[in-house]
Amino acid sequence: MTVSSVVIAVDGPVAAGKGTLARRLADRYGYAYLDTGSLYRAVGSRVLRAGGDPADADFAAKMAESLEESDLAATDLRSETVGLAASRVAIVPGVRAALLEYQRRFAFAPPGGKPGAVLDGRDIGTVVCPDAAVKLFVTARDDVRAARRHKELMDKGESVTFERVLADLRQRDEQDRSRSTAPLRPADDAHLLDTSDLAIEAAVTAAADIVSATLKS
Ligand code: DC
Repeated sequence: MTVSSVVIAVDGPVAAGKGTLARRLADRYGYAYLDTGSLYRAVGSRVLRAGGDPADADFAAKMAESLEESDLAATDLRSETVGLAASRVAIVPGVRAALLEYQRRFAFAPPGGKPGAVLDGRDIGTVVCPDAAVKLFVTARDDVRAARRHKELMDKGESVTFERVLADLRQRDEQDRSRSTAPLRPADDAHLLDTSDLAIEAAVTAAADIVSATLKS
């Protein structure tokens, strides 16, 4: 595939702030934005809705292979239950393979004829777009990430304790880091950005500074 678009890869663990950063970078540069986690969430949600077990690899792969645009609009996509199911189906190589082409096509031929694309996920800089022009790996301490996620869920009216959110987040991190296919890890040439002590605007500025400096060099 001929690569003519500028690709920015934004990877990191749950609630590190990568979604917000990626969206803001896309706005700033006029690039298309893809939240790749929503693809895995859509597969997880489909499996649950069909009464399947996210640990059933064959079933999860089948659900991924027949994923439709409407699955991305499922109303439960951002729930904790679907997040955990997404992390489980993401272990399955057949699921990852089924979603790879869609992500690459988006990156290399962004919708709307945009000149570039920002993709956020876990393996964008390592597997999906190893030649991305800029790679960011966004992190934050566990307690900070759990507090952010907890607030997000409370704001949405989900009643869940901070301890529960922290435990789920650690379980998801462990699943994402330890899987053998495309585990969560920074690419060797990724720029690390720790957002633990940064407010949103400061984090966006720090990320944009890295992107601008890298694109210029
Ligand atoms: O970013 P998120 O929390 O919405 O992602 C949900 C799950 O999807 C995450 O726990 C792991 C998986 N995922 C992945 O394996 N690879 C990606 N590029 C994006 C998400």
